[in-house]
Formats: sequence, structure tokens, C-alpha cells
Amino acid sequence: MNITKQNQIYEGKAKKVFATNDPAYYIVEYKDDATAFNGIKKGTITGKGIINNRMSNIMFRLLEKNGIRTHFVEEISDRETIVRAVKIMPLEIIVRNVAAGSFSKRYGVEEGRELLHPTLEFSLKNDALNDPLINESHIAALGIANELELDVIRRMAYKINDVMSKFFAGIGIRLIDFKIEAGKLPDGTIVLADEISPDTCRFWDAKTNEKLDKDRFRRDLGNVEEAYQEIFRRINV
Ligand code: TMP
Repeated sequence: MNITKQNQIYEGKAKKVFATNDPAYYIVEYKDDATAFNGIKKGTITGKGIINNRMSNIMFRLLEKNGIRTHFVEEISDRETIVRAVKIMPLEIIVRNVAAGSFSKRYGVEEGRELLHPTLEFSLKNDALNDPLINESHIAALGIANELELDVIRRMAYKINDVMSKFFAGIGIRLIDFKIEAGKLPDGTIVLADEISPDTCRFWDAKTNEKLDKDRFRRDLGNVEEAYQEIFRRINV
């Protein structure tokens, strides 16, 4: 593809997004910056940008093979990927298989308790409001997504959970929960966007329940870089 990087159009906490010579495509660049608690905790996870770029793209390819449309187009360097230009919907779409994190805190359930079925929840992406939980009625009432779009998102989220849970089980990892984002193509088609990485998923070792994700950074558990490397190593064996 003859896509060249132009001006930066957005800088998030973990990635930069650039316009290209073709309005149908962006280039995303993954950084080593890490934040938690809505940016209150800041740090660097050396090599994270490379792992998250390459791992996200492996996940996107796996999901595409399983019938899920994504924004992925082509990896062009360790940290850079061409993606389709989408409008990100301002939602964090979270699927959980096992209680952890904010779910455990909110409902007083011990971390590690298997849920009877996967759950789906949404947060409004809004830093100033600290990404509050939002329900489907609110999402539709605010015009963020209509009922048909919510249906697409719901099916996409559960399908991704099925595909990824099986994939990770095969490499000795429990997929505890994860966050995805949806984007809209100019024709209104909803596709999976953003990233899928240890920043956005909880991964526990199937034998030891050792955390192999960003919780090591959030909770100061140490061996953060090693956890990212271990996940990446298992994906690639
Ligand atoms: P939570 O238990 O803190 O709500 O997190 C649920 C999942 O979402 C977990 O896999 C981590 C991921 N996540 C993000 O990707 N970005 C965020 O800003 C937060 C808070 C969580």
C-alpha cells in the first residue's frame, strides 16, 4: 500500500493517530507510556508499544478469520499500523468472565470468582467524568448508538469473547475480562477498533493465576515488562 504518514490528529494515553495521504486510512503509533486511574498514575513500560502493536494485530487477524470486522489494515513497523479511518464511538465495551477490578469492588465480589455467564457493560469514554458506567437505554437516548447498532456491538463483543477465550485457553491463559472499542466506517458499518493488549485485557496464568497484564502496573506488583513479554512469547510459540 502506498500510504504515507501526515499530521498527527490525536494523541491518547497510549497511542498517537496520524492522518495519511488517503482519507480512508489512519496510521496509529503505539507508545510505551502507561497510565492508570484516569491518568493519575503515570509511567513507562519499556517495549510495551511494540508488544501492544504486534499483539493487537495478531488478535485482529485472528478475529477477522472468525468473521469479525476490524479496523486493521497493515502493520508497517514495530510500533505503527495502518488502520481504516473510523469514528470511534465514545464507549468502553467491557466483557467479563471472572470477577475482578471495578466489578469486584462495585459489587463486593471476591476477585477470581467465575461468573455464571459472561457479562457485558458499557462506560462512557469521558475523562472529565471518569468514564462512568452507562446503560443501553442511556446510550440510545443520547444518540451514541441506536438499538440496531447496540445489537451489533453486543453480538460482536460476545463473539470476540468466545474466540479469544478459546485462543488464550490454548496457550495456558485465562481471559478474565477485556475492554474493546467500536468504530464506525463512513458508511455506518461498525468495526472493532482501538487495541487488544495487556493494557486492555486481564490475563491470568491458567495454572498459577499469576497476573500477566497491566494490573501489574496499576497495583505495583513488579515484573511489568516481563508480564507483557510472557504474554507475547506465548502468543508466538
Ligand atoms: P475494570 O475492572 O477496571 O473496570 O477493567 C475492566 C477491563 O477493562 C480490564 O480488562 C481492563 C480494561 N480497562 C481498559 O482497557 N481501560 C480502562 O481505562 C479501564 C479502567 C479498564
